[in-house]
This record gives sequence, C-alpha cells and structure tokens, in this order.
Amino acid sequence: MMRLVADRPYTLLSCSMSIDGYLAGASRTRLLLSNDEDFDRVDAVRASCDAILVGAATIRKDNPRLLVRSPARRDDRVASGLPASPTKVTVTRCAQLDPGAAFFTAGGSDKVVYCASSHVPDARARLGGVATVVDGGQPIDMRRMSRDLLARGVRRLMVEGGSSLHTQFLTGDLADELHLVVAPFFVGDARARRFVNDGQFPFNPGRRAALAQVRQLGDVVLLRYALSDRFSDE
Ligand SMILES: NC(=O)c1ccc[n+]([C@@H]2O[C@H](COP(=O)([O-])OP(=O)(O)OC[C@H]3O[C@@H](n4cnc5c(N)ncnc54)[C@H](OP(=O)(O)O)[C@@H]3O)[C@@H](O)[C@H]2O)c1
Repeated sequence: MMRLVADRPYTLLSCSMSIDGYLAGASRTRLLLSNDEDFDRVDAVRASCDAILVGAATIRKDNPRLLVRSPARRDDRVASGLPASPTKVTVTRCAQLDPGAAFFTAGGSDKVVYCASSHVPDARARLGGVATVVDGGQPIDMRRMSRDLLARGVRRLMVEGGSSLHTQFLTGDLADELHLVVAPFFVGDARARRFVNDGQFPFNPGRRAALAQVRQLGDVVLLRYALSDRFSDE
C-alpha cells in the first residue's frame, strides 16, 4: 500500500482550562490551571518534541520560558544529539514583542519568529539579534508555516496556545493530538480567553473525536484526544 508522506510535523496541542472552559483569567495576573504533577507531565511532552509554538499574546501576557525543566530529560536529549530544549517558535502580525522576554532570553535553544510580511522589517530590527525572523506571508497561514517548520527539521511540534493558535490549528485540521487538562475551578468571566474562539471545527456532533486516554493527576484531569490517523500513543 502506498504511504502518503507527511507535509507537516506531527502536531500536538496542549492546554489547561477551568471547568468552564477558560484558558486564563481576565486580569493581567497569570492564572495557574495546573499542578506540579501535571507540570511534570507537560515537561516530559516538551522533552519529546522538536519545537514548541505559542502565540505572541501568550509571550506578552505569561512571559513563558518554554524550556525542559528536568535535568535528566535535558541530559537525555543532549545524549541523543538534540539541544537541551526544543526550538521555540512564535507568530505575530505586529511584531510588538520585547527582546528581553523570557521566550528570547531563557535557555540556549533556537528561537523562530514567523512575522506577517508587512512587519518583517520592524521584526528584524527589534528581534533580529535574538531570533530568526521568517517572513510568514500575509496573512500567515498555519498550514504553510507548519510545512516550513518541517523543512527546518521539526518533525514533532507542540502547540501551547493561546486560544487564537489552538483555534487556527483545529479549524485548519492541522492537529494530530490534543491534551486538555481540566482544573477544578471556574473562572466565570467572559472577558477571559476560552480554549478556542468561534469557528468551524472538523469535530462536531456529526463527527466525534476519539478519546484516547483519561488520566487523573492529583486534582486535575488529562483528556487526551486522537485527532488524526497519524495519532500515535507514545
Ligand atoms: N491555560 C493554558 O494552557 C494557556 C496556554 C497558553 C496561553 N494561555 C492564555 O491564552 C491567552 C492568550 O491567547 P490569545 O488567543 O489571546 O493569544 P495567542 O494565541 O497566544 O496569540 C495571539 C497572537 O498571535 C499572533 N497571531 C496569531 N495568529 C496569527 C496569524 N495567523 N498571523 C500572524 N500573527 C498571528 C498575533 O500576534 P500580534 O498581536 O503580536 O500580532 C495574535 O495577537 C492568555 O490569556 C494566556 O494566558 C493559556
């Protein structure tokens, strides 16, 4: 049987949300929707990937480091000839990102910024010293960007949000797997970001996603969905 060659990385979406489906609170303060056990699970998933993607708003709001924390996992990666942590990737239209953000300054992994064509000169001026700035087109299409990541050697991509990125990957049918963690509380404020925005999703009442795993980690629960026939239960 002829096997189709993949034209994008194996793509895993990961997020934690409140019982009422919010990814964050409405205030500027970062809301912890996970616990230590789950952070360690996420760390293991990060260590299994070639790149981690977040939207520019997540960098501005949460200032994430996006590194593998466990020394043992970092050592294993290095022993396999990989950098200690995956490449960090972001996407932006307006390039309003601080080169001093932890995304750019923490850890020695490569950083790639996909920027809309109109703002590439601004992005290169501001971020050219701390990241590779790629002209992502106008508008930036996630499928094209995924192909470009594959061409840069990214075979396994972890998307860590926020809502805008999860929505584009899901509605574009570009995800192979979803890790959804539910924290045991409500946010109850419609000004906050939900897991996804409105859109036409390939999974709906007429086509249900496959629930591959349910796992309790202390007071949170992980729901793992298989979203494509590439799903692999590693
Ligand atoms: N609970 C969790 O697991 C988790 C994880 C991550 C984030 N979050 C939360 O999610 C919220 C952020 O979500 P969000 O939806 O507002 O933002 P986001 O997805 O993090 O980033 C959106 C930004 O990314 C850029 N972008 C997205 N699609 C683009 C495209 N096609 N072309 C060019 N640029 C594009 C734009 O950046 P510019 O504005 O720079 O042009 C856009 O404003 C925060 O509250 C954060 O705390 C929660």
